[in-house]
Amino acid sequence: MLDQLEQLPADPILGLSAACRADPNPDKVDLTVGIYMDEQGVCPVFEAIRQAQQALVAEEVSKAYMPPEGDEAFNRGMQRLVLGDDSPALADGRVSSVQTPGGCGALRIGAEIIHAATPGARVWISDPTWPIHIPLVGSVGLQFETYRYYDSAGHSVDFDGMVEDLKAAAAGDVVLLHGCCHNPCGADLAPGQWDVIAEMAERQGFTPFIDIAYQGLGDGLDQDAAGLRLMVERLPEVIVAASCSKNMGLYRERTGAAIFVCRDRRNASALTSHALTAARRLYSMPPAHGALLAGRVLAQDALRERWQAELLAMCRRINELRAQLRRQLEATTGGDFGFIDREKGMFSFLGLSPVQARRLREEHSVYMLDSSRINVAGVNAANIDYLARAVAAVF
Ligand SMILES: Cc1ncc(COP(=O)(O)O)c(C=O)c1O
Repeated sequence: MLDQLEQLPADPILGLSAACRADPNPDKVDLTVGIYMDEQGVCPVFEAIRQAQQALVAEEVSKAYMPPEGDEAFNRGMQRLVLGDDSPALADGRVSSVQTPGGCGALRIGAEIIHAATPGARVWISDPTWPIHIPLVGSVGLQFETYRYYDSAGHSVDFDGMVEDLKAAAAGDVVLLHGCCHNPCGADLAPGQWDVIAEMAERQGFTPFIDIAYQGLGDGLDQDAAGLRLMVERLPEVIVAASCSKNMGLYRERTGAAIFVCRDRRNASALTSHALTAARRLYSMPPAHGALLAGRVLAQDALRERWQAELLAMCRRINELRAQLRRQLEATTGGDFGFIDREKGMFSFLGLSPVQARRLREEHSVYMLDSSRINVAGVNAANIDYLARAVAAVF
């Protein structure tokens, strides 16, 4: 039976990263995978997480299963982190949330809930979007529609195109939005644009499903959630998939939350029962370690302050790298790279063709996706000159 299965192609991003690791060129630059890297090219453990971990290891007395909904301190902390401390929806008790294995788990639980409510519902995704949205949400049996999002020529959000396309989103449809730091393009909606989409959702009756995997890495924790909070303020129902992979560095601990803002308290309780049923079908209980760490960091003042300071330093470094990269690329190529400075988070398209991206790889050992999406955090003082000269060589 098993011998009927043929080899599948490798994941394109992981494949490129592996090719970079195998490249003997000492000047090689890896801008492929979406993990934060510091000046030394290391994906660091947050000091606040390290301290929480030491305390947890010293105090932990059991490895019994977590409750199916996950750690209470984590769930409470995540709801407030994402929705805001004084969210009226929280005060009204109309928020349901469960701890999930990463943001991916939250996206999948969200998709399961959508399917339970409206089998075969249409989900509108941005063009482009994070490619993993398709299998994560699509394998549940939902249908996809795309809306225009990024204007490659203008290096900005094609807001007119987005609005035009979303005019066809109807009641019962879901619109998947990136809460901040859009992956792959880095171009986010401006506050007034969030307003327009909220108004359309109100009028047309579609439900926003907001994927927020980079809160704190764009402009700051509250600023990055402003669009999402505006949606929650104005609409009766919003679905959120949140991740602690990037903003707490908990990638391998698989720590995330599926948050459902519901019409009322009774509906929130029903939602929890459906989310737990979906989780039971998929993985039963969520993993413990990451959520216990994140729960401590969110609940304990000293750890939280430390974490926020570390996260702010990361955010500032990314924004400084964006400004530097823009300057260096403009100096070496003579082109306009102002968009890099305007975009947010870890990703931007450099605006190169697949042929140029391949030449960068083959001739200069500079690795980025064929779409020219780069992980800005892979740039550092040691490689920025080389990178800018390599780009100029293929420009
Ligand atoms: C847009 C987006 N959403 C969700 C995730 C999920 O991350 P994780 O499952 O590692 O928490 C990622 C990770 O790269 C992402 O880029």
